[in-house]
Amino acid sequence: MTISSPITPSQVSFFLGLVPVLIAWLYAEYLEYKKSSLPTKVHSDVNLVEVGMGEGTVREDDRAVLLEGGGLQPASPKARSSSAFSPIFRFLTMDESFLIDNRLTLRAISEFGVLLAYFYICDRTDVFGSSTKSFNRDLFWFLYLLLIIVSAITSFKIHHDKSPFSGKSILYLNRHQTEEWRGWMQVLFLMYHYFAATEIYNAIRIFIAAYVWMTGFGNFSYYYIRKDFSIARFAQMMWRLNFLVLFCCIVLNNSYMLYYICPMHTLFTLMVYGSLGILNKYNEIGSVMAVKLSACFLVVILIWEVPGVFELIWRPFTFLVAYTDPAKPTLPVLHEWHFRSGLDRYIWIVGMIYAYYHPTVEKWMEKLEETEVKLRILIKSAIGLLALMVGFLWFEYIYKLDKITYNKYHPYTSWIPITVYICLRNISQNVRSYSLTLFAWLGKITLETYISQFHIWLRSSVPDAQPKLLLSLIPDYPLLNFMLTTAIYITVSYRLFELTNTLKIAFVPGKDDKRLLHNLISAAIIFGVLYSLSYIFLRVPQMV
Ligand SMILES: *[C@@H]1O[C@H](CO)[C@@H](O)[C@H](O)[C@H]1NC(C)=O
Ligand SMILES: *[C@@H]1O[C@H](CO)[C@@H](O)[C@H](O)[C@H]1NC(C)=O
Repeated sequence: MTISSPITPSQVSFFLGLVPVLIAWLYAEYLEYKKSSLPTKVHSDVNLVEVGMGEGTVREDDRAVLLEGGGLQPASPKARSSSAFSPIFRFLTMDESFLIDNRLTLRAISEFGVLLAYFYICDRTDVFGSSTKSFNRDLFWFLYLLLIIVSAITSFKIHHDKSPFSGKSILYLNRHQTEEWRGWMQVLFLMYHYFAATEIYNAIRIFIAAYVWMTGFGNFSYYYIRKDFSIARFAQMMWRLNFLVLFCCIVLNNSYMLYYICPMHTLFTLMVYGSLGILNKYNEIGSVMAVKLSACFLVVILIWEVPGVFELIWRPFTFLVAYTDPAKPTLPVLHEWHFRSGLDRYIWIVGMIYAYYHPTVEKWMEKLEETEVKLRILIKSAIGLLALMVGFLWFEYIYKLDKITYNKYHPYTSWIPITVYICLRNISQNVRSYSLTLFAWLGKITLETYISQFHIWLRSSVPDAQPKLLLSLIPDYPLLNFMLTTAIYITVSYRLFELTNTLKIAFVPGKDDKRLLHNLISAAIIFGVLYSLSYIFLRVPQMV
């Protein structure tokens, strides 16, 4: 097995962290097995399978081990006396009741570690082969339409969620719709990467804008209605967005910016959070909201439109957002971040505005549904036609531009197709209530499918490289290989989605800010210790 790039201390830390957790988990399973009076054979077999996989494992769970510590006195002598209060201590001494109590968390961490090890094996070693991308328009659309037909046949569903305002009509832009919408886009987005379908580049830009729009829309609605600006909630949100990507960066030695969707959503989520959180007592007042939204526009204009400001503001964060593509080493390190964040700089504000007017539009729509049939049909067809016409004009004059010119117009025009889609999608009560649950399901795991594709579906081979190749498990049979890698990839993504959530519940307590702080500090300490050990470990052979 050849490894394609040198091992880094972070990778060794991951390994050093994961191994004890794996051992502890296996031991916990053993204890549990011994404890239960009627041991289920099936159960233990399952575990053995997992163990087998575990052997190939690399590193990861340092963080989790670290987080395991709810108490923060890991090495202090006092810990001995107060051992009952120190999870780290109890973990290190393999305290039996502790292991049994936390068996499921240990299992989740182990599984997470094993999956990341699989990422590493696929993308950084020569255990599996790689093949090149090829685009065939016929095949591309065949596959996409096939998926639509299959999901229409198997997962078509009519929802009856009622509006919270009146209990009458079905919410426009309900959760099913947004998730399904994400699913539609995500599938095309992923296939675009897999088949290198450069001809739909502009459409992909729109999809990403639509995700950012949803970030503005969803987060605004949440904070505006729930008014929950607590630290715990904030931490959970950051965990959801960045947990997996953080470990991918550690294990695969990549930059955060390689997965640009993550920093971008984090930034815009923070902006929404900030704009609503500051002086949140006055959010109800219309004029305050208008001032806030204008302030958002002003900030964006200042940062992205005034030359030089972007570099000035982001230079201190270079460590986070710098990116150099090995294929284009001459570009400035902030170029990628400027380009990516700039493309969607306004659309999150548009999402916020739509969310703000959501209840108003909802009320209009309810009124409209109550009007007399003829008038209603007239109004609806007028809106529908208008939307179609605007959509057509946009398509003719903006969408068809070449990639470079299109990108220049994109920040100012991406709201047009998004608005058209929203209008058409909810033009009638019926259409509004339909959704394809398969797509909605895929829409839930977009973040995981986005991140995993780089390593276990496509291949980049070296740190920070764009995934120009495909992972090949069945050489010479491109379609069979596509099917197998896709099946594994979707399954793994779904597991990662669940594990992120399980671990979030375990380590980011909802109500207990003190414990949250303890966990954070423990995490930092454990990572510090593991990192120092790894650093020394890697240095020693060189010095000898
Ligand atoms: C806020 O935005 C992020 C990023 O898109 C998303 O994952 C999260 O679900 C949103 N939060 C809410 C409450 O909609
Ligand atoms: C949603 O549907 C109604 C008809 O039920 C339509 O009149 C309205 O324009 C749609 N909403 C938006 C925002 O376009």
